[in-house]
Amino acid sequence: MSEETAPAAGDALENLLQENRRFAPSPEFAAQSVAQAGLYAEAAQDRPAFWARQARELLSWDKDFETALDWSEAPVAKWFVGGQVNAAYNALDRHVENGLGDRVAIHFEGEPGDSRSYTYAQLTQEVKKAANAFESLGVRKGDRVAVYLPMIPEAVITLLACARIGAIHSVVFGGFSADALRSRIDDAEAKLVVTADGTYRRGKPSPLKPAVDEALSAEGHTVQNVVVVKRNGEAVSWTEGRDQWWDDTVGAASAEHTPVPHDSEHPLFILYTSGTTGKPKGILHTTGGYLTQAAFTHRNIFDLHPETDVYWCTADVGWVTGHSYVTYAPLINGATQVMYEGTPDSPHQGRWWEIVQKYKVSILYTAPTAIRTFMKWGREIPEKYDLSSIRLLGSVGEPINPEAWMWYREVIGGNKAPIVDTWWQTETGAIMISPLPGLTATKPGSAQVPVPGIAVDVVDEMGESVPDGHGGFLVIREPWPAMLRGIWGDPERYKDTYWSRFDTMYFAGDGAKKDDDGDVWLLGRVDDVMNVSGHRLSTTEIESALVSHPSVAEAAVVGANDETTGQAVVAFVILREGVENNGDATVQELRNHVGKEIGPIAKPKNVLVVPELPKTRSGKIMRRLLKDVAEGRDPGDATTLADPTVMQQIAADLRK
Ligand code: WTA
Repeated sequence: MSEETAPAAGDALENLLQENRRFAPSPEFAAQSVAQAGLYAEAAQDRPAFWARQARELLSWDKDFETALDWSEAPVAKWFVGGQVNAAYNALDRHVENGLGDRVAIHFEGEPGDSRSYTYAQLTQEVKKAANAFESLGVRKGDRVAVYLPMIPEAVITLLACARIGAIHSVVFGGFSADALRSRIDDAEAKLVVTADGTYRRGKPSPLKPAVDEALSAEGHTVQNVVVVKRNGEAVSWTEGRDQWWDDTVGAASAEHTPVPHDSEHPLFILYTSGTTGKPKGILHTTGGYLTQAAFTHRNIFDLHPETDVYWCTADVGWVTGHSYVTYAPLINGATQVMYEGTPDSPHQGRWWEIVQKYKVSILYTAPTAIRTFMKWGREIPEKYDLSSIRLLGSVGEPINPEAWMWYREVIGGNKAPIVDTWWQTETGAIMISPLPGLTATKPGSAQVPVPGIAVDVVDEMGESVPDGHGGFLVIREPWPAMLRGIWGDPERYKDTYWSRFDTMYFAGDGAKKDDDGDVWLLGRVDDVMNVSGHRLSTTEIESALVSHPSVAEAAVVGANDETTGQAVVAFVILREGVENNGDATVQELRNHVGKEIGPIAKPKNVLVVPELPKTRSGKIMRRLLKDVAEGRDPGDATTLADPTVMQQIAADLRK
């Protein structure tokens, strides 16, 4: 924890809490609402029993469970103990058995304009083939499979094929570098990598396979095979015996495959996320509880009517939202969804709205950074398209400012679609705080209420619940079904990170405030984690990348407020003795170095070469002061610094 733990309650927040607009659901919306008010009371009465009912209603179990929750080994929970379930069977086969085989599961829209749709029957067949293919390559239950794929249907197919055979998938976002991929492959000891030749970005082919080749170029890894989807057709280098084309292996595999039942607590996936130290954490999720909460929240928070809705979640499969709300929940719930490969401005800035119009999307789930980008581009762009199919909007990833919320409602939602602002984390596995759209009168900027069956609170430094109208730290008081079961290979770190700050409560790392109605407002991270365009990045991880460059002696990184991306990475570096500062060339070199070490998403927006860093007498870097500088404010009180003149030196230097 840094010295910045006290949640900031600046002017912006005070303005937020003055927000008194309310948007009650229309009578028509309320009348057809999936979520019913009784859910809250039922969950409050007996939380585990409430989740047990959801588990039995939303999933088909091969073997019913005996106990809803076993918390005897806290803080590691077991949910639906003794039950057996197969995620892929629940997402696919059972819909086909129930006569829904002809329903479209995925409408895929490629960036260059190609499109294909998969019915549930077709997707089931593809997953069976992939499961057979992976097994023929020696993948067994419990083995880890690294997935480095773009947003193409093969990503969903791969994940479900792993789940079907009980292999544990570990998706690495395609924007991460070869080095980042290798460290994740090593940490999970992956046996297989599934990748593609590449994808398309802004009309041009963008490669992926070379990063896999580079990651595996040094000896000492555990990977036996690499399966490669042909997507953009670019030439790739090939390692005979190791590399297999998807079309050859999966294409040739049998379409018969029997799903085996897995224990409710069988690991489903690992997903690496940034923490407060340099080393990413492999967040571990298991099967029964995760699927239950993902499916429950998807159905109730998005008011899903699977027969008629067309759902589109714009998240990449490389992030947790792409796991819970692209891969698992929509398919478990039998939804029809849209999947889009590319960027929102390719080939033009109306691309998303063209897709909404084409598929008559009725539920759209995206991130505030995207909404703010569209605001910048202008409302006349979405206004050119028919968005009348939209009846519900969702937001996730970072706090949504009321201006963006109102714009989303008016311009995209036609002033009628309820907005659900959903708070959750990689660690929570599924949504934890959100309005229920047919029940809650929504407030621009607030995620508002815990999901039924979720015990959220805001506490002070001492762990005492704060009264309404006060701020503090967001905690979760009771275990929840989709909670992480640990950090891969590091049980102690799991306890230290989440359960040591407040003993018996889960510490989320976010600041929050309760307003006078008791509604929750999220205030951003209180630790050294930044949120850039809804992506989690660790200040420490980027600092380590910078100091690994031979020219850098010391580095400090802060997340500075940014109008579009929420936060932007700003780095302050001290060059080594004798290294010359070549201005832009030095800055470019350091930015590229971070790109290589972690990935393009982590490249600092600004790199400032400074003579000194502000440090406390105990030697701790005062990032708060650097943040002031990065955000163009006069850094306030610097008297606690070991050398109080440092800030003047930095300021003078920046003026040069
Ligand atoms: C932030 C993404 C405010 C928060 C699902 C959290 C949010 C981190 C919201 C998790 C929201 C996510 N309002 N902040 N609706 N949703 N966050 O693991 O700081 O990539 O701790 O999971 O994003 O990011 P992660």
